[in-house]
Amino acid sequence: MKRVHEDSHVSRAFLVQRAVLMATLAISTCAFAQAVTGKWTGVERTLDDGEPDRVVLQLTQSGTQLTGVLETLGFETSIKGTAEGSHFELIAPWDEKKPLATGELAGKDLHVAWDGHNVVLTPAPADYNIPKPAYIAPPPLKKVPYNGLAKTPPMGWNSWNLFAEKINDATVREIADAMVSSGMRDAGYIYVNIDDTWESVRDAHGNLRPNHKFPDMKALADYVHARGLKLGIYSSPGPRTCGSYPGSYGHEKQDAETFAAWGIDYLKYDWCSAGGIYKNDQLQPVYQKMGEALEATGRPIVFSLCEYGLGDPWKWGPDVGGNLWRTTDDIRDEWSSMMSNAHRQMASAPYAGPGHWNDPDMLEIGNGHMTDDEYRTHMSLWSLLAAPLLAGNDVRHMSQATRDILLNREVIAIDQDPLGKQATRVAQDGDTETWLKPLADGGVAVGVINLGQQSKSITVKAAELNLPGRATGARDLWAHRDVNFTDGEYTADVPAHGILLLRVRSGS
Ligand code: GLA
Repeated sequence: MKRVHEDSHVSRAFLVQRAVLMATLAISTCAFAQAVTGKWTGVERTLDDGEPDRVVLQLTQSGTQLTGVLETLGFETSIKGTAEGSHFELIAPWDEKKPLATGELAGKDLHVAWDGHNVVLTPAPADYNIPKPAYIAPPPLKKVPYNGLAKTPPMGWNSWNLFAEKINDATVREIADAMVSSGMRDAGYIYVNIDDTWESVRDAHGNLRPNHKFPDMKALADYVHARGLKLGIYSSPGPRTCGSYPGSYGHEKQDAETFAAWGIDYLKYDWCSAGGIYKNDQLQPVYQKMGEALEATGRPIVFSLCEYGLGDPWKWGPDVGGNLWRTTDDIRDEWSSMMSNAHRQMASAPYAGPGHWNDPDMLEIGNGHMTDDEYRTHMSLWSLLAAPLLAGNDVRHMSQATRDILLNREVIAIDQDPLGKQATRVAQDGDTETWLKPLADGGVAVGVINLGQQSKSITVKAAELNLPGRATGARDLWAHRDVNFTDGEYTADVPAHGILLLRVRSGS
């Protein structure tokens, strides 16, 4: 209003018109603000175990801006968003580019399109919450002995990145067969890991059962084992997994025994709803509880902590019996997400070593949203980082390029190098960055990434590789050929978002 009065040359009619318009806008924004600010609840979807997954959305509108909290049975996240007229969009912190949900204010309800389905949310009382079970204090800290597993980063396959909730017994069996026929198993990809959505409700004795998608977990483990592979499973220290299925909260020992009885070889243990019960400074004892439970079964089970890097797990992961721990949010099949996860490995790099690894999340190679050059960079970076190599694609139907990337044994050898050192980024220069990983034979693996949009000539200089001796030779691990490094440098053209990956030998 102040600015209108300062505008001395505008006509009285214009002022009246403008005042009416602003009043109308204020009334409609205010009406929408009153309607959308508050708590909303509804059933997001029916889980594969028959349970309804409830959602509670708390929103506050200020002008066109929305802030709030979104809660399902399995997780809670802050959200923000925008509102225009009766339409609104909600953005989750892990993906600012794509709305998590879009919706309309329709009468007294919100109609929300979320994750491929439509949900009707009705107004809920301000004190309405998803019920939380009673608090169980975590155990006092103690060191869980090393289980002797994962001397090199675990390799295998995981269902989540591509299949998400569309995973079942038949698909896992076909994947296991394909791991053998494609040569993945023989290249070292041993673990076949079932991620979230396999769980059903507990039976009368509190035993966690698989839902209808997995009729007989023991028989599935036998099938996988008969093919020289190992079977992994997924749970949460919280009452619910991130997909809202029952977690192991208060049943840690019982669940560890169930997993061991089925013949499970690998457990991914995902923080999810534990975040609504415990604080981040309790991550260690909470994970320790399952570490102790797994140890008590006497079965060798790789223990994979999944906590998105919360609470610096690299500092205490080995003490809870952990063999690997997530260092980042979930990866997406996008160049920027993959590179951002790689860039977040710096602080944790010194903590990687045989038996315990930093996990920048599973591979997206072959899932279709990066170029093959970008997937070669993904594979190279994960190998330089001594990261777990868990393929996340449909290994039953791989293009030749995807096969060649996942099955590049010379690159796999960098990942599986027995020294177990994690690469660090040693240089950044405009559109290139250089990563260096020391190897057990005294040589190094060096990767130079072309971050630019154009192909680029890149030179690697022996003097910049911190070699213990002089460079006695080098091999280009994507071209699969020895390269002339005798004059102390090597130059190659590297495509946009591609990588030059060399293994350089050192001698006297
Ligand atoms: C979290 C994890 C993912 C996946 C899903 C399953 O988001 O970080 O890797 O396990 O939960 O719900």
